[in-house]
Amino acid sequence: MRFDDGLLQLGRPLPPLDPSALPGAGRPDWVQADPRFIERALARANARSGGGWVVVDASANVTAAPRRVRRAGRDWVVWRTDAGPHLAPDACPHMGAPLHDAKVEDRCLVCPWHGLRLGPAGRGDWRPAPTFDDGWLVWARLLDDEAPTDAPTLPRRPEGAIGGVIGMEARCEAEDVIANRLDPWHGAHFHPHSFARLELLEVDEDVLRLRVSYRVVGRVCVEVDATFHAPTRRSIVMTIVDGDGVGSVVETHASPVDSAGPRTAVVEATLATSDRRGFGLVRQLAPLARPLIEARARKLWIEDCAYAERRYALRVGRSPT
Ligand code: FES
Ligand SMILES: [Fe+2]
Repeated sequence: MRFDDGLLQLGRPLPPLDPSALPGAGRPDWVQADPRFIERALARANARSGGGWVVVDASANVTAAPRRVRRAGRDWVVWRTDAGPHLAPDACPHMGAPLHDAKVEDRCLVCPWHGLRLGPAGRGDWRPAPTFDDGWLVWARLLDDEAPTDAPTLPRRPEGAIGGVIGMEARCEAEDVIANRLDPWHGAHFHPHSFARLELLEVDEDVLRLRVSYRVVGRVCVEVDATFHAPTRRSIVMTIVDGDGVGSVVETHASPVDSAGPRTAVVEATLATSDRRGFGLVRQLAPLARPLIEARARKLWIEDCAYAERRYALRVGRSPT
């Protein structure tokens, strides 16, 4: 614990910085946040295929009860059996009944209108999509304009993490969500409730490294070094690389809901770990920690969705709201 420029820093001290050696030495954030750099970093992210995979929902939200979800411009029904998650068109191939109202028997949906049984093997044009459950998130391979891969690209995740998953929708495209996170310079200005200080340590078009003082409460902070990288055009990952919680990640995934509008689902998983003694106890309290983790993530994303929506409106020449 130490005082530093009016902040009470908890946690492990980090190597001291030489301010004159930082990439932004002495320049204000609005000068450092160079839109041309952000566009170049975004172009590099956009070149990375997502293998056709999009996030459907948190794994915990995909249950035995069929539910409707909209992704890639279509309505789907998602349900879980002992074989894992399933996702298929939400219209019965007979006369179009909504299958999220179906009963489930022996892994099959039983259509509520005339009793047709529809299972993971499909029927005619009615075909379940490939799905993947990574333990935190359920994915489906729905985009056919990318070379398909057997599984989604996942970042390295900590073992035995505690965490939470939030989801919301933004009226923009996936690239606007990624662009928001490729601009870390906005953090302490736009989210002063969460970030007391933020300094860029390395500015690279593929990986940004920064030191961030995250507010626990008021002037009490935890300072860590973290990186941001976009493994695909629809995902961006923050990884703690020094300080407390090394290996913890915050993964943000942007999945197209509708191209008209457009609408994008923002699903974010926060997976925290620690090598501190006592983390085992925290792990046992994970169900209590989850709502707190999710509330903080949601608060940030309400603001960042506004940022992403405004970016979209400006770039397509629509009057921003
Ligand atoms: S609409 Fe589904 S069985 Fe007729
Ligand atoms: Fe933000």
